[in-house]
Amino acid sequence: LSQESQSVLSAYEWVTKLYHHLLRYAKDGKEGYHYLQARGLAEEAIDAFQLGFAPNAKDFTAEFLEKKGFHRQILVKAGLVSLLNDNSVSDRFRGRVIFPIRNHLGKTVAFGGRALGEGQEPKYLNSPESDLFQKGKLLFNFDLARKYIRKEGEAVLFEGYMDVISAYQADVRNVVATMGTSLTEYQAKLLKRYVNTVIICYDGDNAGVEATSKAADLLRTVGCEVKIARLKDGLDPDSFIQKYGKEAFQNEVIKASETFIAFYMRFHRQAYNLNLEGDRIKYIEKMLEQLAMIDSPVEREYYLKELSKEFDISLDTLAGELQTYQSRNG
Ligand code: CTP
Ligand code: MN
Ligand code: MN
Ligand code: MN
Ligand code: MN
Repeated sequence: LSQESQSVLSAYEWVTKLYHHLLRYAKDGKEGYHYLQARGLAEEAIDAFQLGFAPNAKDFTAEFLEKKGFHRQILVKAGLVSLLNDNSVSDRFRGRVIFPIRNHLGKTVAFGGRALGEGQEPKYLNSPESDLFQKGKLLFNFDLARKYIRKEGEAVLFEGYMDVISAYQADVRNVVATMGTSLTEYQAKLLKRYVNTVIICYDGDNAGVEATSKAADLLRTVGCEVKIARLKDGLDPDSFIQKYGKEAFQNEVIKASETFIAFYMRFHRQAYNLNLEGDRIKYIEKMLEQLAMIDSPVEREYYLKELSKEFDISLDTLAGELQTYQSRNG
């Protein structure tokens, strides 16, 4: 690491402690504490994730760090403060609850800062990308989740910070988040190095459902087995847990996640009008294309039989078709 990167890491470490301390013990952080409490977070989780609060002041953080001996230049570089025209400095995070973003070694390399008010824009303000932090190369909570991911043989993939922390409180710990909805190939490969099966548990809104398809494709491309967890009423994992509790989340969401193919069938069933012959054929072709990618012969046969029954096509015919798709895949 360059000297500069080491200084940036050190600044993040100081600020993580500062914001966490303010949230937990200081008058200046009470708003943040109450905000998290109202969202159902207990002190144990607040401490485990080192959640904090950045006070609503112009240069509180800048001053704190300059007193510790950090040069302005480093703080600007770290994205913790910005330099104004009149040569004064201003904190990047003001009046926000702080989620430290750790790299795989457990070092804080960025922050996500949430506005307290609903409708306040942006809802989340993140640190800018840097040599140390690229959103698409990091999974939130990967450092803590890794050993649980190994143990369970499964990883659960969420969108957001609060989803991870609520799941942690619900004793589901093999959990990471993409920090938004676009999983990258880099992140998919990272997961594949540790685990065979990934359960995608994105938000139940339209954006989440669309992103689920894309993430599933990507994960399958890098060789992961994919399962999909469904959330009713457009909820996200955090709001589901707050509303229905931890047992419901464990049993009705995580354990009840469906195989990719089952999800895919249901998804495309809605997109096609199966009363139309043309659509029926397209649907069947799409399914065969997907079934051709399944490694397990048992699973393949299971779905082939379903198709055969549903559309009254002989298993032989479907199996023959499937082979042409398989040979195409090599
Ligand atoms: N995100 C972001 N910047 C935004 C909005 C979202 O970086 N302006 C990232 C955050 O990591 C966020 C995730 O995308 O956690 C998912 O976004 P969203 O579902 O909109 O937010 P929630 O995590 O559900 O936020 P909350 O529950 O606090 O409202
Ligand atoms: Mn603490
Ligand atoms: Mn979302
Ligand atoms: Mn969400
Ligand atoms: Mn949410």
